[in-house]
Amino acid sequence: MTTTDPSPATAPRRDGEPLLRASDLVAGYLPGVNILNGCDLDLYPGELIGIIGPNGAGKSTLLKALFGLVNVRSGTVTLGGDEITNMRADALVHRGVGFVPQNNNVFPTLTIEENLQMGGFQRPKKFAERFEAMVDLFPTLGDRRKQRAGSLSGGERQMVAMARALMMEPSVLLLDEPSAGLSPVRQDETFLRTRRINKTGVSIVMVEQNARRCLQICDRGYVLDQGRNAYTAPGRELMNDPKVIELYLGTLAADVDNADGHGAPTTPPTA
Ligand SMILES: Nc1ncnc2c1ncn2[C@@H]1O[C@H](COP(=O)(O)OP(=O)(O)O)[C@@H](O)[C@H]1O
Ligand SMILES: [Mg+2]
Repeated sequence: MTTTDPSPATAPRRDGEPLLRASDLVAGYLPGVNILNGCDLDLYPGELIGIIGPNGAGKSTLLKALFGLVNVRSGTVTLGGDEITNMRADALVHRGVGFVPQNNNVFPTLTIEENLQMGGFQRPKKFAERFEAMVDLFPTLGDRRKQRAGSLSGGERQMVAMARALMMEPSVLLLDEPSAGLSPVRQDETFLRTRRINKTGVSIVMVEQNARRCLQICDRGYVLDQGRNAYTAPGRELMNDPKVIELYLGTLAADVDNADGHGAPTTPPTA
């Protein structure tokens, strides 16, 4: 069984079938209004892929559609070759998909330990073992296991949310803006931790506002615009693509440089 393979670091394997594939997805919330207008996405085993794009492009909607939280009107989602389109979230968790939403991703009145119990409730006998693995990954959580999640900082809450999703040992992890609202130092930690989780063999789809940092660490990136794929390429290629810089990275780069205090804003190339 591949799930029990102890090999530690896994390099992405793009020669075979994708682990997760979305083809021509059309999805939306209100009748007659489509937010996704034909999205494609392939996640190969071992990959970390990034999805960037302007606000309102449909990035969160895409993750929700993959996780059965938004009705897919046409198109298909497959996991390991099996069709999972519109399958319920709890069934997807059982099949090895984990999701960390952008907002409200912890139970604030529950303790850290209880939050992680919720994450692993489908396999209670594994709790102690998985909890220890999560404490290895996020030592702060172990020290504070009895603390209510609502009293934690943004960075700590993000750790709880990620750990909760990891309790079920997913093969695919969907992360919606894990660095949002964090200080630059905490953002860096989040990116490094995401990469580390990926290196343990978890294939990851990460949506990010911090586009440059995301493209630096991901194997491949997708630019989503108006519910469609605008560009797809290896992360570093996208970062250096003049069209992508002009349309999607110019102003963001200026924001990031200002926020970090790293020199003058970058002027986007004029059209
Ligand atoms: N629950 C919802 N009901 C109706 N419309 C929604 C809902 N959530 C998001 N939308 C709309 O879907 C579009 C895409 O939103 P979203 O996927 O959150 O974009 P992104 O994550 O790229 O910023 C926006 O126009 C937004 O207003
Ligand atoms: Mg979003």
